[in-house]
Amino acid sequence: MTAVDLCALDELEDPGSRGFALPEEAGERDAESLFVVRRDGEVRAYVNRCPHIGTPLEWQPHQFLDLDRYYIQCAMHGALFRTEDGVCVSGPCAGERLAPLQVEVREGRVILLLPGAPAETGATR
Ligand code: FES
Repeated sequence: MTAVDLCALDELEDPGSRGFALPEEAGERDAESLFVVRRDGEVRAYVNRCPHIGTPLEWQPHQFLDLDRYYIQCAMHGALFRTEDGVCVSGPCAGERLAPLQVEVREGRVILLLPGAPAETGATR
């Protein structure tokens, strides 16, 4: 596993979201972007790509949630996704889901875990 230190948990509002670009050292993946969302104390991470037509989801930098801060919302056509599992509950890709990434909180830091050789690295943005 490659562990990527994303940010301090305190930097994430609850509910709230934040986007990141992965550095190349994070592994063989190309420079995909991802986002983390925190709601009700749970932190989840997803690839920043809408299953509808593959565009990034955010309205503005780091703004992935709808106005009520309940669902993840795609800025392009308004699809709504559950924060807990990334499943689309409304919109043109209803029933599809965001690609999940493994994330955990360690000692107050949000850590992304990627398959690959062990390494400690940081994310950008
Ligand atoms: S691109 Fe996300 S709903 Fe269409």
